[in-house]
Amino acid sequence: MVRIDLVVAPTITEAVRWVGDHVLGAYKDVTAAGSPFSIALAGGGTPRSLYELLSSPLWRARCDWGKIHVYLGDERYVPHTDPRSNYRMIRETLLDRVLIPPRNVNPVPTASDIDSDAAAYAAVLDSNLPKTDAGAPQFDLVLLGLGPDGHTASLFPGSAALEVTDRWAVGVEPPNAPTPRISLTLPVLNSARDVVILTAGTLKAGALSHLLAKEGDTSEIPARGLAPEGRFLIVTDLEACERLDTLPLRDGIVTTRVT
Ligand code: 6PG
Repeated sequence: MVRIDLVVAPTITEAVRWVGDHVLGAYKDVTAAGSPFSIALAGGGTPRSLYELLSSPLWRARCDWGKIHVYLGDERYVPHTDPRSNYRMIRETLLDRVLIPPRNVNPVPTASDIDSDAAAYAAVLDSNLPKTDAGAPQFDLVLLGLGPDGHTASLFPGSAALEVTDRWAVGVEPPNAPTPRISLTLPVLNSARDVVILTAGTLKAGALSHLLAKEGDTSEIPARGLAPEGRFLIVTDLEACERLDTLPLRDGIVTTRVT
């Protein structure tokens, strides 16, 4: 049984602040033990406010960015200057506002061909990160979003990428997404010490209810493929929880309400 720590805040503002505190707490724990802190960031729109919070003056002063190593959980296969690029969004909302050494920043390459770039990114993970007993690269924390269709990272419903167990990153052609993507695969996501899904709003109520339902299938709701070795947190707001009483819920959910 997978334990899920479901953290429910009144609105996304409190949810973002809770995740910010959690990220900094994880950073402190890891770096206090003398290790660098490796984090894989999510793309899309929801985490923008988290990145803007973490890079605000009072928050960015709470950590030594030289001890933080940034990766991405997925990327749109476009130039890094493209407005659709997750890396561009993360640069604009976070990286350009903090004193992080360039060598600590690991964007997904998107300038060759998608399969070569996916393999190159997987090699970076292999080279930079510690390994689990199963040999998978291990992040300290992976931040993910949740799509309305239940996708996470760029693992979409029905995708063959959901079955990949021997590669850490793959190129994908999502049926309804405007661009191809590169995504980390479930073995890497599930090897993390901490997996945090930040999701909010009424539009995510259906996906969240299917993610937390007793019955469900990973090929239909890819986020159901998350079963981390470490902690699994879903941080959300009341709006996204509106439909949690419509389905029997899975075992292992521990709910915390944030005021
Ligand atoms: C991306 C993201 C994607 C995102 C979800 C939720 O590249 O778009 O990695 O997986 O997290 O689609 O997106 P929103 O937070 O914008 O709803």
